[in-house]
Amino acid sequence: MTQNAKVPFVDLIAPHKELEAELVSVVKEVLHTAGFVGGPMVEGFEGDFAKFCDAQFCIGVNSGTDALRFALFAVGVQPGDIVLTVPLTFIATSEAISQVGARPDFVDVDARSYTMDPEQLRLYMETKCALDPKTGRWVHKTLQMPVTAIIPVHLYGQMADMDPLLELATKYNLIVIEDACQAHGAEYFSKKANRWFKAGSMGRAAAFSFYPGKNLGACGEGGAVTTNDEAITRKVKMLREHGQSKKYYHDMEGYNGRLDSMQAGFLRVKLKHLAKWNESRRESARKYNDLLAATDTNIITPFEPVRSKAVYHLYVLQVDNREAVQSSLAKENIDTGIHYPIPLHLQKAYQSLGYAPGDFPVSEKLVERILSLPMFPGLSEADQARVVSALARSEQHTGPEKVLVR
Ligand SMILES: Cc1ncc(COP(=O)(O)O)c(C=O)c1O
Repeated sequence: MTQNAKVPFVDLIAPHKELEAELVSVVKEVLHTAGFVGGPMVEGFEGDFAKFCDAQFCIGVNSGTDALRFALFAVGVQPGDIVLTVPLTFIATSEAISQVGARPDFVDVDARSYTMDPEQLRLYMETKCALDPKTGRWVHKTLQMPVTAIIPVHLYGQMADMDPLLELATKYNLIVIEDACQAHGAEYFSKKANRWFKAGSMGRAAAFSFYPGKNLGACGEGGAVTTNDEAITRKVKMLREHGQSKKYYHDMEGYNGRLDSMQAGFLRVKLKHLAKWNESRRESARKYNDLLAATDTNIITPFEPVRSKAVYHLYVLQVDNREAVQSSLAKENIDTGIHYPIPLHLQKAYQSLGYAPGDFPVSEKLVERILSLPMFPGLSEADQARVVSALARSEQHTGPEKVLVR
C-alpha cells in the first residue's frame, strides 16, 4: 500500500464481499418464496436479536427513528409532555420526541463519557420541576408541562451511566427509553444489580438503528425496539402495521413502519458476526489509545469507565484546532468525521424552543473539539499507525495555541 492510499472512515464493502454467498442466498430465498413482508425471516431475526440483547422481546421496524417514535408512543408519552434527552446526539432522538407531540428538552452530557450526566438530570428535576400532588407527576414549573420520560443516548457505542439515571427515573416517575442506535452489544456493569447488562435490556424499551454504517447494519434501512414488556411489544407491533390488531382491524392509527424481510434476512446473517466485529473495534480502540499515548500531543482519547464495555461505533478524540487537524488529515488522504458539529439546542430546527449559547456548556465545548477517526472491524494496524502519526504531525503544527487540558 502506498503512503497516499485512502484510509476510509468506514469500510462497508469488505464485510459484504466476505458474506456475499450467504447474503445472496437470502435474496434467493425471498425471491423464491415471495416472502417480501413479514414472515419467518423477520420473526427469526427478532428472536435472535432479542437474545443477543438479553431482552425478552424484539420488534423489527423500518428505522431507528421509527423505533424511538414507536417506543415513545407505546410507553404512553402524550402530546404536551416533556421528554428529556441530551444535546449531543443525532437529531433523530429529538425528532421522535416532537413527532409524538411531546416537547424535547435537554440535560447536558458528562464531560468525559459524553453521555447523559445524572447530576444534570437531578438538577433539572430538583430546580426546574415540582411535584403535582394531584397527578403524582413532576411538572416543569415555567412551561407547566409534565416531564414523563427520558432518553439517555448510548453515544458512540458506550452506554450511559444507567444506575443513577434509573434511580432518578424511579424517584421522579420518569419512563426510560434507551437510544441504543449506536450501541449494539455494548455492556454496562450495574453496581446495584452486581452484574453486566446489554444495551437494550435496561430501560422500559430501547431503540436500535440498522442503518448500514452501524455496528449491525442492514443493506438499507432498518431498526428495532427491544423490551421486556409484553404490552409494549403488542403496541409497537400494531404501530408498525397501521394500528391493526389483525388484518384490517385497526384499533388506532399507526404507520407503515415494518422491517423489510430481506433486510431482516441480511441482519440475521450479519448478527452471527457482531460479537467478533465488536471485539475487533475494541481491539482497534485499544491500539489507537496505545499509539496516541506514545505521542507528545494534547489529544484526549475516549474515556471508557470500568462500568462500561463500549463497542466503539465511533472512536472520538478531543483535539485543539480541530478544523486544522481535520484538514491536515484530509491532505494525507485520511477520512474523519464530526459527530456532531452543532448541539441540538442550537440547531435551526429548535430555534423556537428559545435556547441560547451557554445553555449546555459541556456539549457546546465538545462540538468544537471532537473528531471521529476511521473505525471499523478489520481496520489495519498499519492504517492506524498512519492516522496517529499524521495526527501527531498536525498537532505539532498547531502548537502555539495548545492548552494542556488532559
Ligand atoms: C443516536 C441515534 N439515534 C437515532 C438514530 C436514527 O436511526 P435511523 O437512521 O435508523 O432512523 C441514529 C442513527 O443515525 C442515531 O445515531
